Amino acid sequence: MTKGNFPVDKLKGIETPFYYYDIELLKKTLKIVKEETKKYGFIQHYAVKANANRRILELIASEGFGADCVSGNEVKTAVNSGFPASKIVFAGVGKTDKEITLALDLNIFCFNVESLPELEVINELAAKKGKTAQVALRINPNVDAHTHEYITTGLNENKFGFSMAHLDSVLDTLKSLKNINLIGIHFHIGSQIEDAHTFEPLCARVNELQDFFEEKGVKLELINLGGGLGIDYEKPNENPIANFPEYFELFSKQLKLRSGQIAHFELGRAIVAQCGSLVTKTTYIKHGESKSFVIVDAGMTDLIRPALYQAYHKIENITSDLPVKKYDVVGPICESSDFFAKDYELNETERGDLLVLRSAGAYGEIMASQYNCRELPKGYFSDKI
Ligand code: LLP
Repeated sequence: MTKGNFPVDKLKGIETPFYYYDIELLKKTLKIVKEETKKYGFIQHYAVKANANRRILELIASEGFGADCVSGNEVKTAVNSGFPASKIVFAGVGKTDKEITLALDLNIFCFNVESLPELEVINELAAKKGKTAQVALRINPNVDAHTHEYITTGLNENKFGFSMAHLDSVLDTLKSLKNINLIGIHFHIGSQIEDAHTFEPLCARVNELQDFFEEKGVKLELINLGGGLGIDYEKPNENPIANFPEYFELFSKQLKLRSGQIAHFELGRAIVAQCGSLVTKTTYIKHGESKSFVIVDAGMTDLIRPALYQAYHKIENITSDLPVKKYDVVGPICESSDFFAKDYELNETERGDLLVLRSAGAYGEIMASQYNCRELPKGYFSDKI
């Protein structure tokens, strides 16, 4: 039996909760991203933070993408999964000496640097090794991403990046940092941006900044636009692949790239979200005074997005075709924020039924925790079960 793209009989044999990845969909998504970036000569570094499952990383690496990392361990994991160090960019406001040293030893492509003290430390550590570190300055463009406040990053006085007002003095300081080679500028305004037009003010700001750097006589070989393209959480079946053509075309039309300059991107969610689902089993149906609860064996420890960002994930009962009823779908964790949906319509559900939480491939498995001494969920793949 299959329901949608779910091989129900096979899934029934696996201990729940677990993540299930549709590898065909991931491959199709990667193919489109490759085609669209190739059209414009853009480069895509997959944002490892979205999902660092080894198989997923290996697949993305094998398609020739680079990696965007935000910790030393992400850099290590990316290299071990097949991403060449020469295609790795390393961002983050708090890179430690140990992490910078590791990245220098591996000769990564570029550090996306977020503050002056960080630049000075990279310079000092590179000097000790007799190396020159390639860096891009992460600039805070003061552009509103119109997304959840916890995942917006591009407004002024955010912890991320350099403020535009400080760029003059940063360029002055850079003159004395002999082991730093400034090769580009970097931006990321936020995540789950559903309307591509939101990126227009970013393009305008980048164009202004390009003029500024040109006036200062600074040549930039790369402009990194970060990630942020959103996906359709409401209708994953109708829109399994994000609108990459519209997204990349917008940048190609609106960015005034100088000759020889390359635009880089760091998409995470749009690459991996729709291929992943969290599969969970119904432990109990509990009837309250006015509502019924489906108590499942997955909780906020397995998928924290609903509890942390009030995020919506479509839920389906893949083992029932009975008429729909309304339920609160809740996990077993001892926190009242541990619910996935309230007053949610599901096919009538019984103990033992399998539910899937859709669009969970990004920021799902990777954000799992062991709170309540729970086991971490495992990942299974459509082509290997
Ligand atoms: N580049 C930088 C510098 C970033 O900070 C991020 C995400 C990305 C790229 C990738 O963004 P994406 O294409 O995935 O939107 N845990 C949250 C999302 C946090 C995003 C953090 N930064 C969630 O579950 O919605």
